[in-house]
Order: sequence, then C-alpha cells, then structure tokens
Amino acid sequence: MVEISTSLLSVEKDKIIKTIYNLETAKTDYFHIDVMDGIFVESNTTEKMIEYCDYLNSITNIPLDIHLMVKDIKKYIDMFVPYNPNIITIHYESVTNKDELLDMLDYIKLNNCKAGIAIKPDTDINKIYDILKNVHLVLIMTVEPGKSGQKLIDKTLEKIKEISKYIKNNNIDITIEADGGINMQNIELLKEAGTEIVVSGTGIINTNDYKETIKNMKLN
Ligand code: DX5
Ligand code: ZN
Repeated sequence: MVEISTSLLSVEKDKIIKTIYNLETAKTDYFHIDVMDGIFVESNTTEKMIEYCDYLNSITNIPLDIHLMVKDIKKYIDMFVPYNPNIITIHYESVTNKDELLDMLDYIKLNNCKAGIAIKPDTDINKIYDILKNVHLVLIMTVEPGKSGQKLIDKTLEKIKEISKYIKNNNIDITIEADGGINMQNIELLKEAGTEIVVSGTGIINTNDYKETIKNMKLN
C-alpha cells in the first residue's frame, strides 16, 4: 500500500495548527516540509517551515519528511536536524560534483536521518544510478520544484517506471517517492509506475474531507 506524505506548503499560517490536527486524524503517514532558500528556487519558505516544524514537534509524532530545495545544503541540514526528521532529501542539482553529494548524504545519515536524493523533471534518471546504494529514498519530482498547485508533468511517470525497474533488476533496497501535482485523479498512475510514498499538497489540502481523501488515495 502506498504511503501519503502531505505537503504543508500551501497551508496558510493562520490555519496551520488546525490543519496539522486534521491531517493527523486523517492518518497522513508523513508531513512533507518544502524548504526553499530563494536561491535554488525563487521562493523562500525557510522561516515559514521552521515555524511549522516548531508546531509539528509540539503537536504530533507523525514523522517529518524534509525536502530541501536549497543551495547551501549543510547549513539547512543543521537547521532542520533539531526537529528529528525521519527523512531529509537533497537535490542532485544542488551540488557541482558527486563527492560533495556523497558527503552531504553521509552527513544526513550521521545525524540519524534517512537520506534521500531528489531529481528535477529534466534531469536524466541514469545520472543517479551510481548513488542509489548510498541513499534510503529517491524522490522523483513530477513538477518543477518551486511552488505547489502545478500540473503533473506526464513524462516524469516514465522516469518512475524506469527507476522502479532498475531497482528491482539490481536488487537495491530503496524507497521511491514522487512529488508534485498529485491528486485523486492521477494517483493510480503513480502507483502503477511504482511509487511507494506519494507527496500531495493541494491534492489533499484543497479537499473538504482530508480523512476521506487520504483513505481513498491509499485504496488499491
Ligand atoms: C514543489 C514541492 C511539492 C509541492 C506539493 O516544489 O516540492 O512538495 O509543493 O504540492 P502540490 O501537491 O500542490 O503540487
Ligand atoms: Zn516537496
């Protein structure tokens, strides 16, 4: 069964506490935290996400799934480790060489978090094959990173299928997560392609009944 990681990016500050409670009741498996630095992507969500993590830590035990869309990776790992996240995911495109990437992934693991690697829609999937053994999770972006409420880019489904096949053929123990533009209308396609953790923001937040939406998303 697929797990659901609900993105809080589109949630307004005055609704955050109530929304966290409702999503916990609705049995989200993770809270997905979209951290943007204003450099790697245009928006800067750092302050907002720090505030949301403060609330999450005091309200809930549901694991945090941190998605870092930032250039200065180490600075941001240090900023979010105190919230005891389950997963910290960094972008392949954030670094200039593989050694730096491997160092950062090791640094995440050293801090007792699962390490994830994310790739943008236009990045070739085979670029990350050789680092799959160093990570717990691969995050396939199904929209361009930067904002919520975008439409899923169809060609990214092929990448999920490809990596899913590669992982099976090579017997690699890794989780496939997909992020961006996922809702009740298209979630079946993501599952068919091999996604194990589905990130959904507006696909859940913009519905009336989170419990019903998440339950239906998890149905086979
Ligand atoms: C995009 C983020 C996603 C996104 C999810 O940069 O990584 O997590 O905001 O929101 P929806 O589901 O609305 O695309
Ligand atoms: Zn995200």
